[in-house]
Amino acid sequence: MPIRLVARLELLLPSQSLIQSALNEQPNLPMSEPNIFQKFPIVQMVEPGVYWWCACGRSKSQPFCDGSHKGTGFEPKEVAITEAKTVAWCACKHSGSMPFCDGTHSGL
Ligand code: FES
Ligand code: FES
Repeated sequence: MPIRLVARLELLLPSQSLIQSALNEQPNLPMSEPNIFQKFPIVQMVEPGVYWWCACGRSKSQPFCDGSHKGTGFEPKEVAITEAKTVAWCACKHSGSMPFCDGTHSGL
């Protein structure tokens, strides 16, 4: 009988994986500050085109927006690159020259 009782209680309680996934979820709430993705720039060769730089720091496709900013109050910054060149994208999201790194990350 006690074994049955324990089994039924387990049915009423959320599983460990459910609890862990709830803890890992990051609800998109308004943010006053962007997330710091990393404290150094993302340097890459870029081709001419239009890019959408992630300003919130939550994108999983850094340095570009993947839509994760929804609900945070942040919007991606549109950047037109006119010629192929090496770009140092700000990844700390605190640059004074967004979307480009200006060294601000060193003081964070
Ligand atoms: Fe960061 Fe869109 S995901 S601005
Ligand atoms: Fe943000 Fe350098 S990475 S200022």
